[in-house]
Amino acid sequence: MTIKRLRKAVFPVAGLGTRFLPATKAMPKEMLTVVDKPLIQYAVEEALEAGIEQIIFVTGRGKSSLEDHFDISYELEATMRARGKSIEIIESIRQRPGSPVYVRQQEPLGLGHAVWCAREIVGDEPFAVLLPDELMVGGFMKQMAEAYAKTGGNVIGALEVPDSETDKYGVISPGGRFDDRTVEVTALVEKPKLGTAPSNLMIPGRYILQPEVMRILERQEKGAGGEIQLTDAMAQLIGVQPFHAFTFDGERYDCGDKAGYIQANLALALARDDIGPAVRDFARGLLG
Ligand code: G1P
Repeated sequence: MTIKRLRKAVFPVAGLGTRFLPATKAMPKEMLTVVDKPLIQYAVEEALEAGIEQIIFVTGRGKSSLEDHFDISYELEATMRARGKSIEIIESIRQRPGSPVYVRQQEPLGLGHAVWCAREIVGDEPFAVLLPDELMVGGFMKQMAEAYAKTGGNVIGALEVPDSETDKYGVISPGGRFDDRTVEVTALVEKPKLGTAPSNLMIPGRYILQPEVMRILERQEKGAGGEIQLTDAMAQLIGVQPFHAFTFDGERYDCGDKAGYIQANLALALARDDIGPAVRDFARGLLG
């Protein structure tokens, strides 16, 4: 088996972000900041750290600030330069490799459909998918890419959640062990009803997939919630191609959820040298 190098990553960013209204009425949810960086930038940095060379955004109407964020900000840079200020913090965003490509998802038909919208740019290569709502600290995609270099095929992230939360996610049925952190996947189910999940290992929005999944998505079959689900398409590759789950062991924040988003802000602020001490004092005072 030849294992093709992972070079491309797809970021589905067309979602409406209704869970964060009114904040997301005129602003993409992926531009919500954790401390001082938008969620999308964390996900892009995670991909670049894993050696990804081509960033593909599947975007939609009202998302142009995402494109601007990764472009040159001419006035800002010129003004800061004129004032003798360092522009490193903004310059580095656009000077990184992986100058993004944008495709549009015109209708919100589901995550599987969003990924399928990138098929022409993905071509005949393996590709990563990162959902920016899920903020993973600790270079998870890099670790997954290392696992993929050993297993080939498809590798998805896996994270244990309490049984009471399995109905919110794609859930993995684990099979034989490959190594400490990697198991075979025997089945996948999207948002199983409580009490019916095959395990409490959920998919935290990180995937390395073979291009054949696009051919399955092409059929546009609807699954849970009446949407075209990536999980259902992936499930059809099990037994056809190698399919493994790789366990996450860092910190993960579900920033698609308000409590998770606030927790991310608090944790990442506390970890910072510049603002950490002030935030810590304030939090202590608040909690008595
Ligand atoms: C999506 C996926 C699901 C995955 C989750 C991670 O669901 O369909 O399999 O576990 O992201 O956040 P969504 O959150 O879009 O409903």
